[in-house]
Parts: sequence; structure tokens; C-alpha cells
Amino acid sequence: MKHRIGILTSGGDCPGLNATIRGVAKACYEMLGTENVEIVGVSDGYYGLIHNICKEMKLDDFSGILTRGGTILGTKRQPFKMMKVIGDDNVDKVKNMKKTYQAQKLDCLLTLGGNGTHKTSKLLADEGLNVIGLPKTIDNDIYGTDVTFGFHTAVDIATDALDRLHTTASSHSRILLCEIMGNKAGWLTLNAGIAGGADIILIPEIPYDIEKVCKSVLKRNESGKNFSIIAVAEGCFDKDEAKLKKKERAKRRAEAGITTATNRIAAQINQMTGLEARVCVPGHMLRGGSPSAYDRILATQFGVYAAQLIQKQCYGMTVAKVGGEITANKLDDVAGKTKFVQPEDQLVQTARNLGVSFGD
Ligand code: F6P
Repeated sequence: MKHRIGILTSGGDCPGLNATIRGVAKACYEMLGTENVEIVGVSDGYYGLIHNICKEMKLDDFSGILTRGGTILGTKRQPFKMMKVIGDDNVDKVKNMKKTYQAQKLDCLLTLGGNGTHKTSKLLADEGLNVIGLPKTIDNDIYGTDVTFGFHTAVDIATDALDRLHTTASSHSRILLCEIMGNKAGWLTLNAGIAGGADIILIPEIPYDIEKVCKSVLKRNESGKNFSIIAVAEGCFDKDEAKLKKKERAKRRAEAGITTATNRIAAQINQMTGLEARVCVPGHMLRGGSPSAYDRILATQFGVYAAQLIQKQCYGMTVAKVGGEITANKLDDVAGKTKFVQPEDQLVQTARNLGVSFGD
């Protein structure tokens, strides 16, 4: 039996996308027979599917990419909430995606992406396409999987940043705040914060009180430590803002001329403690470069599992790791849900028991 498989990467990139693509392709060729497999690469995520920008791929295309960062297919953000909206260009995106699937004579489509990608994957599955998702994101916030590929590499990079901040913070007797990606979920900041020995960790799931943050900084200072390291998730907010909806929060910040929560916290620490606070933003460095060994293994396992799903013609699923086992969830059960850090999470408790403050 012939299998013609479409594959796309969508949303923000992360290390491990190419390793996953390689895992799927090599396992398909191996398990189904090279002569029975045709792989079609869709460029730039759903944008390529909407506009039928596809290329036939060969076995050789998947060699030498295990360690390569980014995605050989290219990616774009194509917001889910706009998928059913017909804009000025008059393009019916859902209709076009189905047309491309048919024009390319695909038997199935693999979608490598985060939460937004999974919502569109479910939409396409509901429209009758054979879809298999693969969970990527440095945010680790996909519901139903313990871990996403890209996350561990980003934890390593953010940890390295925190390690480096320690020495310079100590030399200059400064409070250094490291802003770490994660708009909705604080997994990356929590894990890097613990691995990098941060003194204070601020995440969206635990709104902070600036008085408490300053108190922790001063307490450390009084105990003889001349510096503090604060790991701040980019999406964190204080207890007053927690009462507001996201849009109201953004409006209030814009009116007050606040650029980011991290900049505001640094300014408040300067003002309230008299200590010098500075901000460091690793930003997209967290998403760049080669995947860690952990992520190479995870991406390969996910890719091979996806090939097994193709072999069984088991669609409408997304690959996951649960309790150490690679498995799959129904898109219906996970798409549209987010996995947040629970304030009572064991890892939060571990940090608290070390004396780390969450500013609450
Ligand atoms: O979803 C991954 C992520 O890196 C988030 O942590 C971050 O908020 C966002 O993407 C940034 O996206 P962009 O690169 O499109 O600005």
C-alpha cells in the first residue's frame, strides 16, 4: 500500500523540529518500504497549505538534519481564530487547505506545532482530513503530554543564561532579572529557575505582590548576599492585574507606558529597595540552535511513533509522552486546552522548600 504523507511545521519554531521530521521520514521509509512512501513538505506551515506551496521530498532531504535547529520546512504564525474568517484577500482558508490536501493527493497530514497548531489540526480532522499532530513548543504547555520537544533545550539555554548572570550580578552587587519566554505558562521559567538557582521565580500562574518581591530581595541582602537573581516569565502579572482580563491588563499597561512586566519589576525594585536592578532578555536565543540530547531522543521517539500511527492508519490523534511512555491522545480531547503549572505542583513546592520566593 502506498502512503503519500504531507508534513508541515507551524507556529513559533523550536529545536527538535528537524529531528522529528527526520524521525517520521526514516521510520516511514523503514517500516513501510521506501517504494511505498512519498513525502510532501508543506512550506511555512498552514500558510503553505492554504496557498499550495509544497515540495516533493526525497530520502536524502532527511539526512544530516538531526542536529539542525529551526525547521527545514519553514514556519509561520497563522492564528486559529482567523482560520474561518475570510479577509480582504477573499481567501477561504479552510476550503483552500482541503483543496491542497486533495490536489497533493495526500493520504494524511502531519502537523508539528503548539496549541494554535493543534486547534487547526482538529478543525481539519473535523473537515475529514487524516491528521496526526506532534507536540512542539519551548513553553511545554500542550495538554495531555508530560513534555513537548524543544522544551528541554530551552531549559538548558535559559539555565546557562542564569548561571552567567550569577557571576556578573555578584561582581556588581546587582539584582538581575532574566526575562524568559512563556506568555501563558511558566514551565520554562520554573524549570530554568530551579536549575539556575534563581532566588525569586515569577510565573503567570502565581500572580506576584511587588512588596513581597522587594521583601525577599532585602532579606537576601540583609543576610549578607550582595546580589539576587530573579527568573521572570514574560507573561507574569501582579495580584491587581490578576483581577483583570488580558485585554484590560494590556490596555492599563499601555496607558501607564509599561513595556514589559520585567522592566516594571526592575524599576519598582530600584525605587523600593534602593538596590540596582537590571534586566536581561535572552528572547529568541531560547528557540535557536541545536536540540539537546534529550530533545533529539524525544523528537525521534515522537517521529517514530507518528510513523506507527500512519502504518495503522490511526488518525485524528496527537503524539504524547505520558508517565514515561510514548502514546497518543485524540485531538478531540486535547485541542483547545492548555497545560498550566499548578500552584501546588511538586516542583513549585520543591522550590519553596529551598526558600525560593514566588512573590506571593
Ligand atoms: O510559543 C513559543 C513562544 O516562544 C512563546 O514562549 C513566546 O511568547 C512566543 O513564542 C513568541 O513568539 P514570536 O516569535 O512569534 O514573537
